[in-house]
Amino acid sequence: MIANRQVVLKRAPAAMPKAADFEVAGCPMPPGPPADGLLVRVIALSMDPYLGGRLRGRHMGEPAPAPGAKLPGFAVAQVIDSADEKFKPGEYVVAETGWARYAAIPAAGARKVIPGETPISAHLGVLGMPGLTAWAGVTQLANVGANDIFVVDAAAGAVGGTAGQIAKNLGARAIGIAGSAAKTELVIETYGFDDCIDYKVEGWQARLKTACAPGPTVHFENVGESVLRTVFPMLQNYGRLVLCGLAEHYHADGQPPMLPVGPIVGKRAAIYGLVVYDFYHRLNEWVDLATPWIESGKLAFHEDASEGLDSAPAQFERMLKGQHLGKAVVRVASDRA
Ligand SMILES: NC(=O)c1ccc[n+]([C@@H]2O[C@H](COP(=O)([O-])OP(=O)(O)OC[C@H]3O[C@@H](n4cnc5c(N)ncnc54)[C@H](OP(=O)(O)O)[C@@H]3O)[C@@H](O)[C@H]2O)c1
Repeated sequence: MIANRQVVLKRAPAAMPKAADFEVAGCPMPPGPPADGLLVRVIALSMDPYLGGRLRGRHMGEPAPAPGAKLPGFAVAQVIDSADEKFKPGEYVVAETGWARYAAIPAAGARKVIPGETPISAHLGVLGMPGLTAWAGVTQLANVGANDIFVVDAAAGAVGGTAGQIAKNLGARAIGIAGSAAKTELVIETYGFDDCIDYKVEGWQARLKTACAPGPTVHFENVGESVLRTVFPMLQNYGRLVLCGLAEHYHADGQPPMLPVGPIVGKRAAIYGLVVYDFYHRLNEWVDLATPWIESGKLAFHEDASEGLDSAPAQFERMLKGQHLGKAVVRVASDRA
């Protein structure tokens, strides 16, 4: 008999969720697909910063899951049985399965993905939601081109790393900001940014100023006030600012501080709020652009994978603390049946 297993919320997290807030336990195997859906075998779980907020009822108005509930979240999974003729057993999907080995899910939210040369888990990172977020911010909001000086923080992550490489592929100069020597090395050596500054090393502000002289024309913000406070004053007149993520504020009390209104006027700056949900219908456009870039070496990615469903709570805590390198995932099963 096939054994199922899932991760449930043990207690409502009071602050940033920790591994101890979760419990991994055996659970019944779904008897089959739901009437409108699929029975799937989870291959890899996506560890995303928004989930930390979602567990505390702080994400896009979605209610927090109750203690005892299975952890929500997206995964790459393989169809075992299907009640929807559009999906066949053996095919792969990206879907909200929750944190479990096996799940019965509606077909409506599942997106088919075709295995290729790139590992299938890339559909959770560079070829998935984070990659689409980067593409949307760089090309659809900031409209980056050859004359731009592009700065992005959390530059080693799936969003930041992809955003800088897209900017470079469009001819811009790309400067990253990241939080460790291993991260800056990844950003320069693997992602191919022109430079990357470690903001945890004293004097980083001066180094950034030199690296992006005469000042960024585009800044892509993933972290929040502690970076923005330094980069915004460097922005050139008519610069564009993409507000994508505020990772350092997700679990802090109160609202993030407001941007100074006077300098926004003085710089004639354009500010874009980015919500990836606005661009989901264009995901194939991004995948069609990114796939040949990956195959020809123009777009690199790095995965930080932990092994087995039982590792998910600790991997999630690492990711929320920013201790991962690249895109954080949990490998639950082999992609071969
Ligand atoms: N707007 C949207 O629709 C959308 C969609 C997807 C993602 N996002 C946002 O985009 C950003 C990047 O996403 P990602 O998936 O690629 O994640 P990620 O970059 O892999 O992880 C977040 C990074 O934020 C940095 N960070 C700085 N201060 C932090 C703090 N106090 N706590 C935790 N992290 C901190 C860390 O990098 P360093 O060590 O380098 O500082 C950390 O690795 C996140 O803010 C995410 O919420 C937004």
